[in-house]
Amino acid sequence: MCGIVGYVGPGEAVDYLIGGLRRLEYRGYDSAGVATITSSGRLAMAKSVGRIDDLELRLAQTPTPGRIGIGHTRWATHGAPTLANAHPHLGGDGVVAVVHNGVIENFQSLRQRLENEGHAFTSATDTEAIAHLVAAELAKQPPTDDMAAVGHQPLITAVQSALFQLQGTFGLAILFRDYPDVLLAARRGSPLIVGVGVGEHFIASDTSPLAGRTDKIVFLADHELAVVTGRSLRVVHRDQGHVAHRVRVLDLQSTDVELGHHEHHMLKEIFEQPESVANAMRGRLDLDAATARLGGLNLSPGQLHSVERILMTACGTSWHAALVGEYLIESLARIPVDVDYASELRYRNPPLDRNTLLFAITQSGETADTLAALREIKRKGHPTLAICNVVGSTIANEADGGVYLHAGPEVGVASTKAFTSQCVVMSLLALYFGRLHHLSFDAGMRIIGQLQELPDKVGEALQTNDQVYQIAQKYARCTNFLYLGRQFNFPTALEGALKLKEISYIHAEGYPAAEMKHGPIALVDETTPSVFVTPHCHVYDKVMANMQEIKARGGPVIAVVGRGDTEAAELADDVIEIPSVDDYLQPIISIIPLQLLAYHIAVARGCDVDKPRNLAKSVTVE
Ligand code: G6P
Repeated sequence: MCGIVGYVGPGEAVDYLIGGLRRLEYRGYDSAGVATITSSGRLAMAKSVGRIDDLELRLAQTPTPGRIGIGHTRWATHGAPTLANAHPHLGGDGVVAVVHNGVIENFQSLRQRLENEGHAFTSATDTEAIAHLVAAELAKQPPTDDMAAVGHQPLITAVQSALFQLQGTFGLAILFRDYPDVLLAARRGSPLIVGVGVGEHFIASDTSPLAGRTDKIVFLADHELAVVTGRSLRVVHRDQGHVAHRVRVLDLQSTDVELGHHEHHMLKEIFEQPESVANAMRGRLDLDAATARLGGLNLSPGQLHSVERILMTACGTSWHAALVGEYLIESLARIPVDVDYASELRYRNPPLDRNTLLFAITQSGETADTLAALREIKRKGHPTLAICNVVGSTIANEADGGVYLHAGPEVGVASTKAFTSQCVVMSLLALYFGRLHHLSFDAGMRIIGQLQELPDKVGEALQTNDQVYQIAQKYARCTNFLYLGRQFNFPTALEGALKLKEISYIHAEGYPAAEMKHGPIALVDETTPSVFVTPHCHVYDKVMANMQEIKARGGPVIAVVGRGDTEAAELADDVIEIPSVDDYLQPIISIIPLQLLAYHIAVARGCDVDKPRNLAKSVTVE
């Protein structure tokens, strides 16, 4: 969703702002804008509806020079994607410019009051109320000739007074026309970071704009306000006043967020999976004890041993990984697992046993519903763990402990490598909890052996790419798809269908293969392909019977099968062979051709794979 950048230093601000906004494109947006303060003290601004390319065209006509500036990509919530609604928004008569992520719940009443006081609004956004509010509070401050000499205190006081009146969530960067040496950045519920350079500072809503600029990062916490000049950074907490800030050094490679020779981020990330799968288990396999070594759980051995029930919560693709986790942990560790959509869990009041452990599964670590569900369960006194990709993200920080995926930045909106890494982490957890309870040393070693082979097997599965491309051309014009699988491959079927929906806009339903008889079979005709996910597994024969049922009704069948499966080959119209692994690791392999299928179909239909319509990478609103 929306993205924020800001710059103050000796360089041309707009260079970082535009480069940074490009790096944030993946989050999903429909308009964009930048504002700077020129050397003559003028506020220069450019906005566009549509892509950053359009913004650059506007900047060619109306440049925004200056050594300080802010920028934004907007994903419309309050008001349509129009120029008037694009950020930055101005307050007062243009003394303040604001970019904002999040939602202000009381903006209507604030707007009413500010309009009564004479502030003229020009947009339908909640953000504009913040800009006018800050301007109104600033006007109450005593005039100051040398703002730096007084530690920018009037600006801090004005912004804090304004923030105090806001209900809702925000990440904010604020520019003051009359004080061109300082930026203020604040957060409550919406991530914001400051990058520390040499004589310059960068602001961003996630780390991707900073790659190649600096690796020194300060993560702002809720209720913190950063006062940023080229040479200084101070952090002020709402209740505690000035607080020390920790500068973390992150390994940010600019190549991680750039396309290289690939046509799309999604394809690049699909092909990164042999490495990302290896990274998810690197250093975590304990061959001496035949278990997994998970250093970040932060729970005592006693606490872990006494876990009697696991609750998993997530959204989207991460929810499918949670389902894989349910099958894995229940079958290897014999601990009951419930999986709940975070958006449901946050408002539900399920009875929870005392020894229930919560896992929040999230690539971004910022999904609003997952965060709210985590807080709700934490409030009730249960230990919480995050399975998360983005280091330092809100959910990673708020959970009691967790496991990072180490998948590297995922830029494509449709999640791919995060899913397989999540499944790897689920198998490590199942192994770990299994070894605490019922799993023998030998069984643990067998699982470790299979895990070690996974990166190569993922590589082999990727070799189906050319064949999947051909299949995609054959079916690209279909308008309905069914995805069917059972047991461990039921979540794979759901995830395969989601991938197709997300990027090709084709209606696709994932179903347990046998359950298909209770409704979806009515959709089957010669124009509705069924994608069967049926590698050799303990329910293989049953799934083959389901395949017969589809064929008997004239439905085309694409089958993802184990190597050398002649039975499926005879029945199916198209067959994709993948390497064999034990049932519980199959989702990590069987999802690969389904990711490729969705990708090639979307390209064949001319869809914008990395920026699918209406979707956002990181959903930070409810
Ligand atoms: C959005 C993304 C999905 C993602 C979901 C959950 O809908 O488009 O790809 O699976 O959010 O995101 P998370 O970061 O919590 O895994």
